Amino acid sequence: MRDERVTVLIDEARIAERVAVLATAITRDYAGLDLTVIGILKGSFLFMADLVRRIDLHLTCDFLELSSYGDGMASSGVVRINKDLSQPIAGRHCLVVEDIVDTGLTLRYLLENLSTRGPASVRVCTLLDKPEGRRTEVDVSYVGFRIPNAFVVGYGLDLAQRFRNIPYVGVYHPGGVPEGHGVPDVSEPHLGAGRPQT
Ligand code: IMP
Repeated sequence: MRDERVTVLIDEARIAERVAVLATAITRDYAGLDLTVIGILKGSFLFMADLVRRIDLHLTCDFLELSSYGDGMASSGVVRINKDLSQPIAGRHCLVVEDIVDTGLTLRYLLENLSTRGPASVRVCTLLDKPEGRRTEVDVSYVGFRIPNAFVVGYGLDLAQRFRNIPYVGVYHPGGVPEGHGVPDVSEPHLGAGRPQT
């Protein structure tokens, strides 16, 4: 699916390579532990599917659907659980899989909620991180790509529920691609989380 308002930021090959690196780090850090991978719907569904196939551990998968109010391009910070986990997480090591962390408000709400359920540990793996947008401090152990403050779509990420099926991560330009548009800087942060603290 192509759209003239979307320019490639991270192509499919680069995503696949980085997903493999993330999965290797997670496999190493959680060796010998009972892991529950929690995908946050809907944005993480493709990332989660690719990531868990590369993690070489016995694990369980669960999903939690969150929605912020509204369908716009700005985070409202008001979050609702649309669909809860299907299993308890008491005593389990949990890895939350997110599509993107921007203000951090969604994650903060989620981590507070999960911590009340008695997990052995909870950490976060996000495909994308937009640190310039941060409004609250959140600890993210595994970051795929650090990106600038642009609105991105594709590989699961949407604008008003559309564009999730674009196979790469692209920048969305509401008024069409501006003249002389360059590719913004994307970096791949070091992964050094180590074993989870209990
Ligand atoms: P936060 O609460 O601002 O950190 O936003 C997290 C959620 O907002 C993500 O899980 C996405 O659903 C959505 N979001 C934030 N930035 C973008 C973006 O650039 N494209 C698509 N969705 C985004």
